[in-house]
Amino acid sequence: MSTLAIRDSRTNKQVDFLPLLGTDYIEFYTGNAKQAAHYYQSAFGFQPLAYAGPETGMKDKVSYALKQNKLVFVFTTALRTGNSIADHVYLHGDGIKILALRVDDAVSAWEETMKRGAKNYSEPVTLHDESGELTLSGIYTYGETVHLFVDRNNYKGAFMPGYRPWKPYYNPSETGLQYVDHCVGNVGWNRMEPWVNFYEEVMGFRNIISFDDKDISTEYSALMSKVMSNGNGYVKFPINEPAEGKKKSQVEEYLDYYNGEGVQHVAMGTNNIVETVTLLRERGVEFLQIPSSYYDDLLDRVGKIDEDITPLKNLGILVDRDDEGYLLQIFTKPVEDRPTLFFEIIQRKGAKSFGKGNFKALFEAIEREQELRGNL
Ligand code: FE2
Repeated sequence: MSTLAIRDSRTNKQVDFLPLLGTDYIEFYTGNAKQAAHYYQSAFGFQPLAYAGPETGMKDKVSYALKQNKLVFVFTTALRTGNSIADHVYLHGDGIKILALRVDDAVSAWEETMKRGAKNYSEPVTLHDESGELTLSGIYTYGETVHLFVDRNNYKGAFMPGYRPWKPYYNPSETGLQYVDHCVGNVGWNRMEPWVNFYEEVMGFRNIISFDDKDISTEYSALMSKVMSNGNGYVKFPINEPAEGKKKSQVEEYLDYYNGEGVQHVAMGTNNIVETVTLLRERGVEFLQIPSSYYDDLLDRVGKIDEDITPLKNLGILVDRDDEGYLLQIFTKPVEDRPTLFFEIIQRKGAKSFGKGNFKALFEAIEREQELRGNL
């Protein structure tokens, strides 16, 4: 790090060599993008944004881009076998391929990370259409997952060149999801440190919180976790590694079914978690069930909160407090048949942490699901 750190010659302050403006979009490789897009519309309230496929000049794949406030999800499927998208789905099932990050300079982002040891996914390429130009570049992170750097400062179109606006008549309303709070990666045994080093050395992130197996072990399902954050805190990537427990770690179950490392969950922020989760449940999103005893001593643990306990208890929303405030969170069940990717819904009220006080209740809930699958 020190040899490559760039310092401003006047202030001698370290300059962020990879300034990130936030998450640009998340792309899922799926077996059936048409149905996936419909699910994220109907269940999660994403709005149709753009479409790419044979009609727009893409011969071998179809993609649907959907948007809800600052969240943009893209669902892509291969039209034929024998290509990287079809192979990805065959190996991993439906899952996240691309965590795209917004930058002002996608060339510099690629050059700076490549010279620090990144593995190339795509050299910088500038795409053009009548709405302007957009520059992309990409590097690999854990597993087959990719970080794309996206500079869309000179682009006015719906999503990117190759796409056209997508305006279906089916258009269910939003559910109050606002932004990507964090994206968690599961990595293999003894692989957390190498990936922590990757985010530090190659991307200039720093480790802001660590959890060891004493923080995160229930009777069976142990894991370790380190939260990596970029300089301005807009992008946070916790990294999980399995830990030895009595039986199989939840991270190991993921690695088995995903056939390798990948994104475990995406946390989506809301400004009103009770309203959002009520809507999501009505639309069929399935959440982990927390025993009602969790709420018996909740106020003793977290102190005074603005919300009534009853709706939190009815919906299964968890609460945790840190030095700066509190947060409310809830976790879905996996959103595909393999026990791999799931979502977190989070509302922050000052707290900048990740709900450490809820790990025990949460992991016991995950273990009950693992047991039902015969994987504990
Ligand atoms: Fe999370």
